[in-house]
Amino acid sequence: MAVRVEDRIFYLETKNTMYQMKADEHGVLLHLWYGRKTENDMEYLLSYPDVGFAGNIYEAEDCRTYSLNTLPLEYGTAGVGDHRIPAVSVTHADGSTALDLRYQEYKICKGKYSIPELPAVYAPEEEAETLEIILKDTATDIRVILKYGIMENLDVITRSAVIVNDGGKPVTINRAHSLSMDMPYGSWEWVHFHGRHTMERQVERASLLHGVQESGSTRGMSSHQQNPSVLLCEENCTETSGFCMGAVLMYSGGFQTQIELDQLNQTRIVMGIHPDTFQWVLDSKESFYTPEAVLSCSCEGMEKLSLQFHKVIRENVCRGKYKMAERPVLINNWEATYFDFDEEKIFNIAQKASELGVDMMVLDDGWFGKRDNDSTGLGDWFVNEEKLKGGLGKLVERINGLGMKFGLWFEPEMISEDSELYKVHPDWAVRIPGRSPMRGRFQLVLDMTRKEVRDYLFQAISRILDSANVEYIKWDMNRSISDWYSMDLSSGRQGEMPHRYVLGLYELLERLMTAYPDVLFEGCSGGGGRFDAGMLYYCPQIWCSDDTDAYERTKIQYGTSFFYPISAVGSHVSAVPNHQTGRITPLSARAVTAMAGSFGYELDLNNLSEEEKTEVAEQIVRFKQYGPLIHNGRYYRLSNPMKDKFGIWSFVSEDKKQVLVQGMIFRTEPNMLRYPVRLRGLDPAKKYQLKDTEDVYTGQALMSGGIFLPQAWGDYVPVELYLTEV
Ligand code: GLA
Repeated sequence: MAVRVEDRIFYLETKNTMYQMKADEHGVLLHLWYGRKTENDMEYLLSYPDVGFAGNIYEAEDCRTYSLNTLPLEYGTAGVGDHRIPAVSVTHADGSTALDLRYQEYKICKGKYSIPELPAVYAPEEEAETLEIILKDTATDIRVILKYGIMENLDVITRSAVIVNDGGKPVTINRAHSLSMDMPYGSWEWVHFHGRHTMERQVERASLLHGVQESGSTRGMSSHQQNPSVLLCEENCTETSGFCMGAVLMYSGGFQTQIELDQLNQTRIVMGIHPDTFQWVLDSKESFYTPEAVLSCSCEGMEKLSLQFHKVIRENVCRGKYKMAERPVLINNWEATYFDFDEEKIFNIAQKASELGVDMMVLDDGWFGKRDNDSTGLGDWFVNEEKLKGGLGKLVERINGLGMKFGLWFEPEMISEDSELYKVHPDWAVRIPGRSPMRGRFQLVLDMTRKEVRDYLFQAISRILDSANVEYIKWDMNRSISDWYSMDLSSGRQGEMPHRYVLGLYELLERLMTAYPDVLFEGCSGGGGRFDAGMLYYCPQIWCSDDTDAYERTKIQYGTSFFYPISAVGSHVSAVPNHQTGRITPLSARAVTAMAGSFGYELDLNNLSEEEKTEVAEQIVRFKQYGPLIHNGRYYRLSNPMKDKFGIWSFVSEDKKQVLVQGMIFRTEPNMLRYPVRLRGLDPAKKYQLKDTEDVYTGQALMSGGIFLPQAWGDYVPVELYLTEV
C-alpha cells in the first residue's frame, strides 16, 4: 500500500520517497515531510517556538507556542493568523475573508483520481492510489478536499484541491492554489525557467531571499516569460548528487509560483492559478477544482528528478496514438516561404523532401481565408483557393502520392478584424465594452468560454479534416491575452473568464482528439509560449521555440529538458543565416540539435547544394536509426550550455547497451586540448565500442575519464558519438 494512516499521520510512500502529514490535536493539517523514505514518523522534527507576533489559536488556551504562523502547514489559509502566503483565500457572503480549515476525515481509493474538465496524470488502477483529506472551515460550510495521487513506481505524487460550498450563499474564491508546502529546515535554492519569445526556458538558479519570490504569468497562457515548473534544491545539489524537488503545474493559463522564506528561515512554496487574473464565485452546493500539480523529488541530484518527470509526462500525461510511437520526420514551410506560396511551391518543397526521406509535409500559416500577412484572415478556416488552386484535397492527394503524410497549421483561438468571421461575429472577439481592445500581432482573441465559439471552431476544423487526408495539426496561439471580459458572464463573474477560457480550450481540444484519434497534434504558441504539462495532455509534442538557431536551441532545449521529455520537443533544421539571429552554423550541427526532439526541417531543401541534400538524406537515415533511443532512452545533460564551452547531452538505452552522445562545441580555441566529457548512466562493467572506430572503453572509463569530443575546427562543431556494447 502506498498510503497508510497511523495516529492521524498520513504516510504517502513511493519507491524511494515519502510524503507525510499529520492532523494534530487541533485538527490542523501539518506538513511533516517530503523527501527520502525514512520508515519513520517525522513528527519529531516539529518545534514550537515562542515567537512574538505569531498569534495563537483560541483552542491553544494558555499555550503561546502553538501558532499557525510558525507551524509547517499543508494548505495555509488567509485571515486566521498565518501571515505567510496562503494557499487559498475566499470572501464570504458577509464580506469577511477568514478561513480556518480543520481536519474532518480521509478516504483512500485505488487508482488515480481525475479532475472534471481539467487534464490530470492518469494511470492503470493497480499503479496508483488516491488519498483525499477533507478539511472544513470552523465557522462556515466551506470544505476543502485535498487530493493526492501516489504513483509508487514513478516516485511521483500529484496534488489538487477541491473547494466545496456546502453553505446556502455564494462565496468568492480569490486564490486557490494547487500546491502548498512548507519546509521548515534546509537552505534552498530555486531554479526557474524564464525567457521571452524566441528565447524560452533559460535556466536561472538563485538562493532564496527573505520574503516572497515569484515566477508567474498573467497572460492567459503559461508563457514564454516563465514556465509553470519549479525546482527547489539544496545548495550543494548538482546533476548527480544532493536533494531536490520539482513541481510542474498541469495548466496552460496564467499561473503563479511563489516561494517565501519566512522570519524563521522556513520555506513555503505555493503553485497554482495566478490570483491576479482569477476570481471565482462559488455558488451554494458547487465545487471548484484546481488544476493538478505534479511533484517528484530526488536524493541523487537533478538528473534523476528530470528522468522521473520525463517518464511521468511521456507515459502518464501525453495520450493518443503517437504518445509512444516514433513521430514522422516533418518538413514545415514557414521559414521556407512565410506567407508567400502557392500549391506548386508547396508541392515542390514536399517533393524534394520526400526524395530525401522526410515523412510529412506541414503547411503552415497562410493557407486559409484572405491571409497574405499576419493582419488578416484568422477565423476564416476555409481554403484560400487563390493560393492553393484546385483546393486542399488535390494538394494533399498529390503529396500523399509522394508517399508523404500531410499536416496543417491552425490558430483556432484567434480572430482578425479583417476576416469574414469578424464581419458576422464581431461580438466573439474578447474586448471590454467601452474600451479599445489590445491587439497582439494585429489579432484579437476569440472568447473560448462561449460554447457557440467552440462549436464553430469544432465544425470549421472538422470540415477541413474531413475534406482531405490531414494527419497532423499544428495548434498555434500567437498573443498574450488581456481585456478579459465575456459577454456570457455577468458583471460579478468576469473574474472567472481567464480560467473558463482555459477550460474552453481544453474542452475543444478533447472533442477534436476524440473525433480524430489518428491526428497528431503539435502544440505551439509563437514557439514555446505554452509549453506546459496541460497542453501535453492533448498534444504529445510542442514546437519548442520560434528560434531555430542551433546554438540558441542548445540552451532552450537544455532548460526544457529539466521537466519535459525529449519526445515532446518540436525541433527543426532551418536555413542559414538563421532567420532569428543571423548566425551561420553548419548543417551537421543544426541536425544534431534538432534530433534532440521530434526532428524535422523548416527550409526549402531545393535550395541546398547537392552535397547538402545528400547530407540531409543521411541525417534522416540516422534519425530513423537513433530515434527510438532518443525518445525511449534516458536523457543526460552532460554540460551546462549556459556557461560551458559546449552543449553536450546523451541518450542511454534502458538496457544500457546503446549510448548516443550529441551536441555542439561552441567555439574553437587555438592549440586547445580536446575536451573529454564524462558520460553517465552506463554499466561500469560493460565494454562499449565507438561507432566507425576500433576504440573500446569500459563503462567505468567513459564515466570516470570521459570520452573525447572531436578535435574542433571552426565554430559550432557538431558532436555525435554512438557507442554500443561489445
Ligand atoms: C508562430 C509559430 C511559427 C509559425 C507562425 C505562423 O510564430 O510559432 O512556427 O507557425 O506562427 O504565423
